Formats: sequence, structure tokens, C-alpha cells
Amino acid sequence: MGEHIRVMVPEEKVNQKIKELGEQISRDYAGKEIHLVCVLKGGAFFMCELAKRITVPVSMDFMSVSSYGSSTKSSGVVRIVKDLDEPLKDKDVLVVEDIVDSGRTLSYLLDMLKDRKPASVKLCTLLDKPERRVIDVKVDYTGFEIPDEFVVGFGLDYDQKYRNLPYIGVVEFDGDEEK
Ligand code: IMP
Ligand code: MG
Repeated sequence: MGEHIRVMVPEEKVNQKIKELGEQISRDYAGKEIHLVCVLKGGAFFMCELAKRITVPVSMDFMSVSSYGSSTKSSGVVRIVKDLDEPLKDKDVLVVEDIVDSGRTLSYLLDMLKDRKPASVKLCTLLDKPERRVIDVKVDYTGFEIPDEFVVGFGLDYDQKYRNLPYIGVVEFDGDEEK
């Protein structure tokens, strides 16, 4: 069965938005340094592009998490697959995510990071699906609020594919639709 991608947010709009976010973040953190924390793998594309648009000093670290089995997914408990290399103590941490969906992963993760006594923790996400929220998560910077559709590109995958698309798209399966 074939599938194709319908563009939801074109490349130019994504890049323009990242530029604006970088400018806003640079203003908000004037005089400070930002420790960017990327949640792999999805957040990597966005974080690298965002980092290039931030004009205050930045350092970067990466972590990888996975939900505990699908049956317990609702608990929102996540397992650290790869932890950060650096301590967070006294740093101004900005967590960079590809998408906030139910909010479960981020809610758990943010609590865990706060326990490490950073000076501050904020959250920046490229995409937000507010309709899907189950757990309230404070998002400090959002690229785009999108409807409840499964999206790929700019780090987001479907079955590990399509992360490399330079735009945000929706997977459509041939034969799914009338036209
Ligand atoms: P949450 O805990 O439900 O907020 O889960 C968020 C995670 O689910 C994201 O970091 C993504 O890895 C994944 N996810 C949620 N929605 C999408 C989507 O539309 N496309 C691809 N991955 C998604
Ligand atoms: Mg993710």
C-alpha cells in the first residue's frame, strides 16, 4: 500500500517561525546563558535550527526517553534510555521538544529535570496539539498549534520514517480517501 505526504506547514513557514522563536528567546534570556536540552530523536532537528537563531551563549545536551510499555502508557512514566551528560544545577534550562501531545511525557520529564536543581526550566516545542492534552503542561514557547492529526517531518517520524522532511506533513495512505 502506498502512502504520500500532504504538506501542513511548508518549509519556509517553519524556518521563519524558528527564526522568530530564536529572536524572542534571545531577548528573554538577555545577559544569561541557555542550556538547551534536546529530547531525542524528534527534538534534534528543531533544536539544531533553533540554536543557530539564538544569539546569547548556548550549551546543548541530549537525552532519550521511552514510555514504559504501551499498556502503562497512560501512567506517563518514562524510562531514561540515555541520560544527559552534564548536571543541570544552577543552569537556565530550555527543554526543546518536537511536539506536545497528551503532555504525559513532558510532564514527567520536567518534574524529573526540576529535581536536579536548575536555576530555571522552560519548555519550547515546535508543535502543540492542545486538543489532545491529558496532563496540563506549561509550554513557554510554541511554534505552531496544530489540529489533531498525525504529523511527520522536522524530526517527527512515522515508524522511524520521514524525520528528515524539511516541512511538517501528514501521512496519507493511498486508497484511504475518495479522491
Ligand atoms: P505525549 O506524552 O503524548 O505528549 O507524547 C509526545 C510524544 O509522542 C512526542 O514526543 C512524539 O514522539 C510522539 N507524537 C505525538 N504526536 C505525534 C505526531 O503527530 N507525529 C509523530 N509523533 C508524535
Ligand atoms: Mg518526542
